[in-house]
Amino acid sequence: METMQAVFGRKSYRGGFTGAPVPREDLREIMEAGLAAPSGHNLQTTQLIGVDDPELLKRLADCFPHSGMTTAGAMVVVLAKKIQCVDGAFYHVEDFAAATENMLLAIHDKGYASVWLQGVIRGEPAARMAAILGVPREVEVVVCLPIGIPAKPFKAAPKAPFEDRAWFNGYQV
Ligand SMILES: Cc1cc2nc3c(=O)[nH]c(=O)nc-3n(C[C@H](O)[C@H](O)[C@H](O)COP(=O)(O)O)c2cc1C
Repeated sequence: METMQAVFGRKSYRGGFTGAPVPREDLREIMEAGLAAPSGHNLQTTQLIGVDDPELLKRLADCFPHSGMTTAGAMVVVLAKKIQCVDGAFYHVEDFAAATENMLLAIHDKGYASVWLQGVIRGEPAARMAAILGVPREVEVVVCLPIGIPAKPFKAAPKAPFEDRAWFNGYQV
């Protein structure tokens, strides 16, 4: 798939999946796309756990109410290490956001669907997932990407017109 096709074709899917397994090669390639993302000062603060064990998928899906999770063929759990850069800043949030978008594009490219689950796992669900996966205290579970073949067609979310949010050579020009 062409890059621009993937960028404009990607859309969030929150419904159920067909239950078809996601081959390990596909899951690994999706994760490699995430790790290829840029990171502040190349600190590579994002870590990933790919999950394709059906029993483990079920245990993780039980951590929060999201219908799509129970039928996902795989998921990627995105982890952030809060490391301070030499310039004094922390870039781990930007780092995991870039990695997550890369993976969403790769997921779409491979014919699967997903959704960036962050708000819904914040707090207690993320803590439960971390415990199940053996994630150490200094590493935070930040995003979960369920992956699978969508069971039903779905629509793209509406986006504001270009002219409402973007300009050339000045603000609101
Ligand atoms: C930082 C961030 C957090 C998000 N958290 C959630 C979430 O907890 N649950 C959810 O259903 N979607 C979540 N999303 C997906 C957005 O709702 C979705 O991207 C938005 O509605 C636009 O739809 P689109 O992805 O199809 O363009 C999140 C997206 C981002 C970037």
